[in-house]
Amino acid sequence: MLLRTASIRRVRRLAPLFCAIALVLAGCSPDHYAQTALRPISDFGRIGDDIQTTTLKWAIVVFVLVEGALLYAIFRFRGKPTDPEPSQVHGNTTIEIVWTVIPALILAAIAVPTVRGIFQTNITPAADALEVQVIGHQWWWEFRYPTLNLTTANELHIPVGQTVSLKMGTVDVVHSFWPPRFAGKRDLFPNRETRLWFKAEEAGEYPGQCAEFCGIQHARMAFRVRAQSPEEFQAWAAHMQSLRANPAAAVAAPKDSVQTVSAGATVQAQAAGPDDPQYAAGEKLFQAKGCVACHSLNAFDAPKGMIGPNLANVGDRSYIGAGTLKNTDENLARWIENPQLIKQGVLMPNLGVTPEDAKALVAYLRAHQ
Ligand code: CUA
Repeated sequence: MLLRTASIRRVRRLAPLFCAIALVLAGCSPDHYAQTALRPISDFGRIGDDIQTTTLKWAIVVFVLVEGALLYAIFRFRGKPTDPEPSQVHGNTTIEIVWTVIPALILAAIAVPTVRGIFQTNITPAADALEVQVIGHQWWWEFRYPTLNLTTANELHIPVGQTVSLKMGTVDVVHSFWPPRFAGKRDLFPNRETRLWFKAEEAGEYPGQCAEFCGIQHARMAFRVRAQSPEEFQAWAAHMQSLRANPAAAVAAPKDSVQTVSAGATVQAQAAGPDDPQYAAGEKLFQAKGCVACHSLNAFDAPKGMIGPNLANVGDRSYIGAGTLKNTDENLARWIENPQLIKQGVLMPNLGVTPEDAKALVAYLRAHQ
């Protein structure tokens, strides 16, 4: 009776500790970690997750058996001070064979699904897959859709329910493309194509990250995956194909008679137009400050080999600077004024843009959606 009250008291004393542990573990909920590989939403992601679950199950079995045997031996064969010295043994062939064979069998059991997964994730995707070229740059991502003749940067738009076939390379150092909810990491090399494919199962916007140290701003080489319903994706592609370097020109048609009515009309409603002095000033500055030398404003039939990210729809992106800052007017102005302060070492130099000029450039760029 006395023993029972003592143990109850001990449990009561430990209760706050258990509560604290439960609280801390609740913080591990995947809801708080958008960049988790443990909640896959693609066929490729599921293959990796299944292997991980299988391995974990085997690890739990081994843990319970080994620790169980250890605890049993500790308590069952506990020595007393009066015990004589135990018999001294050296070597036991049977036991040694057993404890070599069992781990070998467990490793073989894990190896089978792992090797199968390696082959499954390296198959060539079907011909109806959507091809996207992924090009790594220090420190941003270029995405090209050869069949749609589209180029964009840092936001990968994909249709749900259709396999995307990524063909990847880099213009400088080794990077690693990692969209955790969709697929495992895959390295990008100069002068060598690597491939990755997956089929998204859920629409939404998901973060991704470069996963290979590639210089001082490696941590700021993120991207977003925007998985859209097939209809939304088609609409996005059609809209991107209609974008021109000067979105307001389609409405105003001042000089360029080739430009036809396009999505510029809707953009016009949301952002500054050609009548806006800020927009006109920004347009001039984009040329005068040399922005145009590194950034293309055409998504369709865009020039290849540009140094900076394509800005055709920069006004619509969630982030700027490859996941560095939220895409607000204030942040965009800060970036234009002094990119080196925000992302030291980035190829974009400080161009000596005044706060006034930055505002005008923001008005101009914001119209590019
Ligand atoms: Cu690119 Cu790290």
